[in-house]
Amino acid sequence: MRLHLKITLWIVAIFLIVGGFSIYALVLFQRSATLQQFEAMAKTLTGTILQSLTTTMINNNPREMKQIIGHIEETPGIHRVRIYSPNGRVWASSRAEEVGVLRPSALLARVLSRREAAAEERPEAGELHVLTPIENRAECRACHAADVPVLGAIGVSLGTGQVAAHLRSTAHLLAGLVGFTFLLALGTLSVLLGRFVLDPLSAMVAAVRELSRGNYRARAAVSTGDELGVLAAAFNDMSARIERSTAALAEEISDLTRRLSTLTVFSKTLTAAADLSSALHEAAAAMREAVHADACVVYGRSEEGLRPMAAAGEPALVAPWGTALTGGLAGRPLSTPGGPGEDQRPIPGVGAALAVPLRTRDQDLGAMVVARAREQPFERTDLMLLQTVANQLAIAIENVRLFEEVREKEHLRRELLSRLISAHEDERFRISRELHDEVSQSLTGLMMRLNAAEEVVPQDLEQARATLAAVRGVAEQTLEEVRKIIFALRPTLLDDLGLIPAVRHYAKNLLEPAGVQVRLSATGFGQRRLPRPVETTVFRVAQEAVTNIARHAQARLATMTLELTDGTVRLTVTDDGVGFDPESTLADPARRRLGIVGMEERVALLGGRLRISSRPGEGTVVQVELPVDVAVPGGV
Ligand SMILES: Nc1ncnc2c1ncn2[C@@H]1O[C@H](COP(=O)(O)OP(=O)(O)OP(=O)(O)O)[C@@H](O)[C@H]1O
Ligand SMILES: [Mg+2]
Repeated sequence: MRLHLKITLWIVAIFLIVGGFSIYALVLFQRSATLQQFEAMAKTLTGTILQSLTTTMINNNPREMKQIIGHIEETPGIHRVRIYSPNGRVWASSRAEEVGVLRPSALLARVLSRREAAAEERPEAGELHVLTPIENRAECRACHAADVPVLGAIGVSLGTGQVAAHLRSTAHLLAGLVGFTFLLALGTLSVLLGRFVLDPLSAMVAAVRELSRGNYRARAAVSTGDELGVLAAAFNDMSARIERSTAALAEEISDLTRRLSTLTVFSKTLTAAADLSSALHEAAAAMREAVHADACVVYGRSEEGLRPMAAAGEPALVAPWGTALTGGLAGRPLSTPGGPGEDQRPIPGVGAALAVPLRTRDQDLGAMVVARAREQPFERTDLMLLQTVANQLAIAIENVRLFEEVREKEHLRRELLSRLISAHEDERFRISRELHDEVSQSLTGLMMRLNAAEEVVPQDLEQARATLAAVRGVAEQTLEEVRKIIFALRPTLLDDLGLIPAVRHYAKNLLEPAGVQVRLSATGFGQRRLPRPVETTVFRVAQEAVTNIARHAQARLATMTLELTDGTVRLTVTDDGVGFDPESTLADPARRRLGIVGMEERVALLGGRLRISSRPGEGTVVQVELPVDVAVPGGV
């Protein structure tokens, strides 16, 4: 409900209570005053009657007395006049029929006993009954005994109807007057209330509503000098403060958002940057913008000391003193003149500067510096941002350093491995050649000579011929063994006829005597020969896979495929043997051998891939993929 209506209702309610009560009190008062007047009038009347009664009694003329009573009753407002004897019987009355009737009453008994006049209102009859005792005076004692103090009482009944009518009209008049006054007062009050209280209050409420909706420019247009004026002034002051602090807060939030977005952009830059140098340059540029600096320089520490690695803005501003400032960092931030870090003495030509170290856990990698030409010290938030960026930069620098180190080591390892394998292959080649050229030639020569000797030994020297034949057999066997060794070391087939015949020959030679059927297919080669390192690697992998089938698989069938497509050579060796769990086998140092590891190393060296799929009871598949056009250090 609106305040105006509420106040009006309250005023009406108060008026009804107070006005009603006042009218009631006034009417009561008037009534009692009128009754008192009536009572006094009745007493005067009874005094007159008593006087006439005494006269008529003394003159012994009761008739005259009755006439007097009759006349009195004709007076308007007087209903009845009675004279009572002490026992309550009506001795004389203005109404003849009442004479002789016994009418005792409590009022009569009281008047007689107290010997004083009394009145009683009888609302049902609409009259006031006044009783006055008739004293036994000296002049009465001629007829009445002297010891009777009271001879009776005179009763006069006055009609109160007129009084009631009068009171009613008075009440109506009063009610009208009061009502009119009230309406007048209510109207005036309402106008004044609206003008001086409710209107300013409404203006205040409107302003408060605006404020609560977020309009911090809302002001209450109240200019009175009373409490409402004071309230409005306080409200205006408050909303002005809120407006100011909201603006400051918005400014701060936008500043923080800018910084945060700087950090986000910076993190992205750091991960996306092509190299460290461009990452550092972009970081310097982003930092300079974020803290409103004129210059930002990133220093790196080398054996010769600090040297600038990246800069943005006007590095000349930093250059003359940057090294000196960052040299004194000792792991803590520095600022000038004053500011959030440790204080540094003012530097001529530099308004404000802030420097933070670039550190990893235990290494001092350099420093990051921001500077302004104007004298506006940096704030704590600037320091925090600078330090956060510096920490990330330090990690990035350290990562790059570690990555370089790892790459260098990996390169070295590959080179060594390549040389080792190459030397290994050369050595095998040399030994196989020597075995072929020297040992097998000698053995062949020996066998031929033994053959010749056998021819020339006479038929009867059987013993000698048998011995020679046995020695030739041993020489033949040895030659066979030497050939196998020569093949295993470096099959001449590989060099002479190529990869496919070499692989087929090796597999069949090793597996078929052991009861394993071999199927080999090759596609895409034609007459093409692959580079020597590639052929050697594929052959060595096939050799190890076939050897493993012979040693571990207990297979019945070995299928080998060789494919050459789009500059990639693929070898797949499948067996239907017992299989194994490659993961657990290779992870267990006790079971790890050189075979599979060696295959992986050789394949990785040429940038290829090796995959072994096997499960116990389900055979084994070895797959190799190698790029054909490779340049390998050391030429495997
Ligand atoms: N085709 C296969 N069938 C079943 N088990 C195999 C097969 N190839 C390899 N294995 C299992 O994997 C293990 C590791 O093989 P790997 O060639 O590395 O070593 P190795 O043959 O035991 O010894 P070496 O170092 O002389 O080659 C083998 O000991 C064998 O248990
Ligand atoms: Mg092996």
